[in-house]
Amino acid sequence: MSAVFSLDAVSVSFGQVRALSACTLHVHAGERLALVGSNGSGKSTLLRTLHGLTRPASGRLAHDAHLRQAMLFQRPYMLRTSVLNNVALGLCLNGTGWALAKAQALQALERVGLADVAGRNAKALSGGQQQRVALARAWALKPQVLLLDEPTASLDPTAKREVERLMAEFSDAGMTLVFSSHNLGQVKRLASRVVYLEHGHMVADRPTHEFFNGPLPMAATNFLKGELA
Ligand SMILES: Nc1ncnc2c1ncn2[C@@H]1O[C@H](COP(=O)(O)OP(=O)(O)OP(=O)(O)O)[C@@H](O)[C@H]1O
Ligand SMILES: [Mg+2]
Repeated sequence: MSAVFSLDAVSVSFGQVRALSACTLHVHAGERLALVGSNGSGKSTLLRTLHGLTRPASGRLAHDAHLRQAMLFQRPYMLRTSVLNNVALGLCLNGTGWALAKAQALQALERVGLADVAGRNAKALSGGQQQRVALARAWALKPQVLLLDEPTASLDPTAKREVERLMAEFSDAGMTLVFSSHNLGQVKRLASRVVYLEHGHMVADRPTHEFFNGPLPMAATNFLKGELA
């Protein structure tokens, strides 16, 4: 399998805080990689580093220069304009002309089941709907890799299932997913591989079945016990 991202001994610091310590990680095409760990363990920093938003203090990040990637943040950012414009503007920023951008935005909204609210102000939508608009915005860019930071953290069970269903569909269509989650049920349902982070260190990196059933380093076992308690 070819690696779409390779991190080699990457460390990230914010002043005195070392958010990531010598992380080595190869993300392969088609994987569904889950990042788990306590608050402050470095999950968001790792995602932001993969997306090029945070620069490593040391180590190397390698990816194909032509890789199309998109990132979904925990709280979707909506512009105070129509849902359609919110999606179309993302395409425009990537160089698509306005008429084509609008047509493709509508297709993307149909894809996530939101075509009927295309004309509404995005700010007026519920959190779950906004997260789906953000998914449409990402999907419209036809990324090969989608990075998602706690994509369902603030959603009710119905919205959560809907977002999970879309993530699974995107993956089935060949998209590589890297997502962080505090929801271990979701990790079991969606991930093909799990990385456990603690204080910026990658403590465990296992196929999902092994992560939940096999022997793990003590720290990861204790985390799982705490989360499942
Ligand atoms: N922009 C920043 N400035 C200063 N410190 C930061 C910044 N971003 C992250 N950190 C610190 O880096 C460490 C890792 O934070 P990060 O947000 O990556 O954790 P996380 O695993 O995503 O946590 P959570 O589960 O709460 O989202 C924390 O100690 C955090 O305080
Ligand atoms: Mg985070």
